[in-house]
Amino acid sequence: MKKTKLGSQGLEVPVIGLGCMGMSDFYGSSSENENLKVLDHAAEIGCSFWDTADMYGPFTNEALLSKALKGKRDKITLATKFGVSRGEDGSWKGIKGNKEYVKASCEASLKRLGTDHIDVYYQHRLDVDTPIEETVSAMADLVKEGKVRYLGLCEVDSETLTRANKVHPISVLQTEYSLWSREVENEVIPTLRELNIGFVAYSPLGRGFLSGAIRSRADLEPGDWRLENPRFSEEAIAKNVRLADLVAEMAKDLRVSPAQVALAWLLSRDLPLAAIPGTRKIHRLDENWAAQEVAIPVQSMESLNSLLQQGVVGDRY
Ligand SMILES: NC(=O)c1ccc[n+]([C@@H]2O[C@H](COP(=O)([O-])OP(=O)(O)OC[C@H]3O[C@@H](n4cnc5c(N)ncnc54)[C@H](OP(=O)(O)O)[C@@H]3O)[C@@H](O)[C@H]2O)c1
Repeated sequence: MKKTKLGSQGLEVPVIGLGCMGMSDFYGSSSENENLKVLDHAAEIGCSFWDTADMYGPFTNEALLSKALKGKRDKITLATKFGVSRGEDGSWKGIKGNKEYVKASCEASLKRLGTDHIDVYYQHRLDVDTPIEETVSAMADLVKEGKVRYLGLCEVDSETLTRANKVHPISVLQTEYSLWSREVENEVIPTLRELNIGFVAYSPLGRGFLSGAIRSRADLEPGDWRLENPRFSEEAIAKNVRLADLVAEMAKDLRVSPAQVALAWLLSRDLPLAAIPGTRKIHRLDENWAAQEVAIPVQSMESLNSLLQQGVVGDRY
C-alpha cells in the first residue's frame, strides 16, 4: 500500500482514500446495507482515509460512517467538514465560519460520528464575511482541546492559504483536481509547495465522467445533482465525451480501466497528494484502489497532459 505524508504536522494517509458523499447525497439513490459493505471492505483492504462532511445527507453521511466505524475507529483516518450550512430538510442556509459556528459544528459532528476526535477537520467553503484568521483560530482551539488532529481547508486561494497557515499549520487543501479540472496548477499548487501543505484531490474521476460510465444524461438518475452541473448539460456531455473516449483508448492500450488511468495520472503529480474517489460499489473500490499500482509511460503521460488543451465544455459548478 502506498502512503503519502501531507503537510508539516505528520499526517500520513494512503494515496487512495474513499469519498463517502455519494453514499448519502447528490449522486442518486443508494442502500445503507451496500454502503456499509463498501466501508467494511475499504477498512479491510487498507483504504482507510475516509472523507465525509456534515452537509452530506445532510447529516446522514456522518451517521452512516458512525455505524461503519464501530470496532475500527483506530484504523481509520476520518475527515469531515463544516461550513456549508444546511437544514434537516436539505435547505441551504449559507456559508458560515464564525467562531461559535465552528465550535458548535465540531461538537455536532463528533456526536453524529460517535467518536471523541476528528482526524482531519476542514472548512468546506470560505465564509467571505468572517476573516479566515477567526475561523482557523477556532479550529486551532479544537486541536488544543484534542477534538481535532489536523486542519484542512477546501477550495481556497493562495492568499487565504497563506493567511490561514500563519494562525495554525494547515495540513491539507482539498480541492477538485482531475484530468478535466486543472485550475489549481497555476497558483494554488505552487503555494502548497511553498507552505508545505498536502493536497487531497476531490472528484478525481471527474464526478464519474472520466471513467466513461456516464455518456449521456440518461445515465444519471432523476434528481442526481450532476444534471444541474454545467459539465453535464446535454451540449456539454456531447462534446466532453471525447475526453472520456481518449482516456478509454489509453486505458485499453495500457490494459487498465479508464478510472485507473485518471487516478494514476493524479498520483503521478509531483506533490504530496491523496485522491479520494467516491463509490458505492465494492468492485469499483477494488478497481480504484489498484490504481496505485498503475504506471503510465512517459509518452502516454504527454498525451494525457495535452487532453485539456482540447477544451472542457462547462464550468465545474
Ligand atoms: N470538498 C468539496 O467541496 C467536495 C466536493 C465534492 C466531492 N468531495 C469529496 O470527494 C469525494 C469524491 O468525489 P466525487 O464522488 O464527487 O467524484 P468522483 O470520485 O470523481 O466520482 C464518483 C462517481 O464515479 C463513480 N465511480 C467511482 N469509481 C468508478 C469506477 N471505477 N468506474 C466507473 N465509475 C466509478 C461513482 O459511482 P458509484 O458510486 O455508483 O460507483 C460516482 O458516481 C466525495 O465522495 C466527497 O467525499 C468534496
